[in-house]
Amino acid sequence: MNNQDKILTTRDVRLWYGDKEALHGIDLDFPKKGITALIGPSGSGKSTYLRALNRMHDLEENVTVTGSFTFLGEDIYAPTTDTVDLRKKIGMVFQQPNPFPFSIYDNVILGLRFSGVKDRKVLDRVVEESLKAASIWEEVKDHLNDSALSLSGGQQQRVSIARVLATSPDLLLLDEPTSALDPVSSHNIEETLMNLRDQYAMIIVTHSMSQASRISDRTAFFLSGDLVEVDDTRKIFLDPAKKETQDYISGRFG
Ligand SMILES: Nc1ncnc2c1ncn2[C@@H]1O[C@H](COP(=O)(O)OP(=O)(O)O)[C@@H](O)[C@H]1O
Ligand SMILES: [Mg+2]
Repeated sequence: MNNQDKILTTRDVRLWYGDKEALHGIDLDFPKKGITALIGPSGSGKSTYLRALNRMHDLEENVTVTGSFTFLGEDIYAPTTDTVDLRKKIGMVFQQPNPFPFSIYDNVILGLRFSGVKDRKVLDRVVEESLKAASIWEEVKDHLNDSALSLSGGQQQRVSIARVLATSPDLLLLDEPTSALDPVSSHNIEETLMNLRDQYAMIIVTHSMSQASRISDRTAFFLSGDLVEVDDTRKIFLDPAKKETQDYISGRFG
């Protein structure tokens, strides 16, 4: 990957919970567009790595992060980085849809409200664009003032995606965004992400190898806090370089 094609470069990423090292020196780069899947058994460090990318660990005690994280030329861990701003540029979608007990409309514009945007026309436009991009506009456009809690889990998750898109991110982090959803809702989320792959860089943690192979362009395999290998998704699933990867994708463990 050429440097100008990269959105994010990480080098020698180590992370400790207290004195326990959970990531042992991860080197991983991400392209400006498309989906990278992080796969690996439970406890292999996927979420830990993902959360380091937008400094979510800053909110926890006793976590130490080292290594370099360069996002569009900037050092993510520079003391001058505004983490609120950072988390708009690197947005995060969690496993559980997490709407606030407000209207659908207000859920989508939450980030903009925090930034002080008040112009109703601007807000209306962002709500429509974000809900369209998250493939849920048609389902909710006639009742934007209903509580987001009245929606199904799958719809709530798409509203969560719309909320993240509303802050104009460059990179989306998704930590098992479909694992709390039924198969139809999961399919809708996968379609949504595939519709966004030409516009955004996305990193998705998934324990579903079939999901990784369906939707991702690149796949990184984590094991016990190490990155075993990263490559084009087809290569990882058809002809992985490492025996550990072969064992994992053929279901021998994890
Ligand atoms: N908040 C935490 N405090 C202490 N240890 C943690 C914490 N979160 C995760 N871990 C440990 O770090 C390792 C990696 O966990 P995690 O990143 O959640 O794995 P994955 O997302 O691949 O399932 C595991 O050994 C886990 O027990
Ligand atoms: Mg996890």
